[in-house]
Amino acid sequence: MSFRFNQENTIKIASLLNRYPQKKALILPLLWLAQKQEGFISDAAMKNISEFLELPLMHVYSVASFYTMFRFAKNEKKVIEVCRTLSCELNGSEDIKKYIQSNYSDRFEIVEVECMGACSGAPMCTLEGKYFENVTPQKIDKVFNDN
Ligand code: FES
Repeated sequence: MSFRFNQENTIKIASLLNRYPQKKALILPLLWLAQKQEGFISDAAMKNISEFLELPLMHVYSVASFYTMFRFAKNEKKVIEVCRTLSCELNGSEDIKKYIQSNYSDRFEIVEVECMGACSGAPMCTLEGKYFENVTPQKIDKVFNDN
């Protein structure tokens, strides 16, 4: 199985190359684009990124596996990310997680993640890359019923 960035992502990558002093600094944006393109990061995508950035494959894998935002298998369910770091935890993220597990685990997969950098909106969740602030069970119901 092989992987190639599609035309849209190839154009984005060309633009990103001008913004970074070293090509290897593109590792996170490329992993992110690969995941957006395929829904997960495949071995073939990591190999492609490794060759493009002239980095060992193990380096690409070690970066991808460090971050909770990257997935290595395609999800059948939509993924909701629930922040579990301090500000969100103090504002009820554990209760939000339990609420989602109790009511929506058949349709959505919960992934606990570290700080999303939006602590002023704690508790935070994302659904398909879209941020939701000050999440409550009522807000979860509305968001999930719209998706
Ligand atoms: S602690 Fe949750 S967004 Fe920062």
